[in-house]
Amino acid sequence: MNLSSITLKEDLFDIIDENSEIYLRHDRKTGLKAIVAINSYKLGPTLGGCRCVPYVSTFQAMEDALLLARAMTFKAVIAGVPFSGGKAVLIKNEPIQDRKAYFTEYGKFIESLQGKYITAVDSGTDLNDMDIVAEQTKYVSSTSAMGSSPAQYTALGVYNGIKAAVKHKLKTDNLADLHISVQGLGAVGMPLCKMLAEDGVKLTVTDIDKKNLKYCQDSLDVTIVEPTKIFAVKSDVFCPNALGAIINSKTIQQLQVSIIAGAANNQLAEENKDSKHLMEKGILYAPDYVINSGGLIFAANKYLGIETNIIEQQVENIYNTLEKIFVTSTKENTHTHKVANKIALEKLASHDKG
Ligand code: NAI
Repeated sequence: MNLSSITLKEDLFDIIDENSEIYLRHDRKTGLKAIVAINSYKLGPTLGGCRCVPYVSTFQAMEDALLLARAMTFKAVIAGVPFSGGKAVLIKNEPIQDRKAYFTEYGKFIESLQGKYITAVDSGTDLNDMDIVAEQTKYVSSTSAMGSSPAQYTALGVYNGIKAAVKHKLKTDNLADLHISVQGLGAVGMPLCKMLAEDGVKLTVTDIDKKNLKYCQDSLDVTIVEPTKIFAVKSDVFCPNALGAIINSKTIQQLQVSIIAGAANNQLAEENKDSKHLMEKGILYAPDYVINSGGLIFAANKYLGIETNIIEQQVENIYNTLEKIFVTSTKENTHTHKVANKIALEKLASHDKG
């Protein structure tokens, strides 16, 4: 069982922000154990992905949902989309027996929230699941009617983010012959690897899912390593696209890269400490909620009926947003996570004022 490895806090209230809300639904028949966390309504109704993965405890799942919802507010304000942060977590410690019934119940739960939270895909859910949800509620984005998965746009955003980081740190626009180590070959990791391979990047990859590994190996020229070995791979960029808290005091010691740039949410186990530690080690860290905002930009704008070419421009703009963060970080000798948070908080404050 792949249990999420987030760090447990002592008191859940420490991570409940002033305007946070949390909703729970348990349906015994289908096994649905759903948590919706709302960070605030500051920027409008909330929007965020629905994660369906195993958890050690309900407490840990609630903590993950609250932290992810908070990150979604920061992500939304930096990406400039008119939604606040929300997140759904479905505790999947047993296989789902009847997916149709399970996501029908989840859809009813979302409908009962009356638009406070708009749901979308995340780890463990796909467009088919959201199609089932859409039969119960209009408060859903990333259905197959939207023509693409947000994950494709997350991958596009991360690809642009890697380019911005490489330009800043390695002073080149050319990714060819760079070596990138990739953790996670799922909905984001796999299309991202395809984009990087097309640019001539040398890839070392890992995943705990043998099926995903085989698909990657059959499609691309890659080197495979065991999941525990990926942190010690000597490469230019480490690209995490699995679960959270994988950058911590233990893994930082093993890293032999110049850049960390990947899609995973909440990558840093201890945000400020780890980001500072990375800067001290000379590793450029692309703040997760900035580099992985492509999926949100897609889901939010599609929900609002905005055209795809405009959405693509906004996703490509992640390059410029990150460049600004990197330049400020260098100029002020401040770690990148702090710079990104400062920009997000300033934008939130200016939103409050006016
Ligand atoms: P996914 O569930 O499709 O893929 C995750 C992959 O990571 C799976 O192949 C899984 O087997 C692998 N994995 C899990 N634990 C691992 C470990 N310890 N070592 C190696 N591989 C491991 O999820 P998806 O959608 O690709 O998302 C990846 C990450 O990016 C997640 O943290 C997600 O929250 C984040 N993210 C995803 C977005 C999206 O649009 N899908 C948007 C923004 C962030």
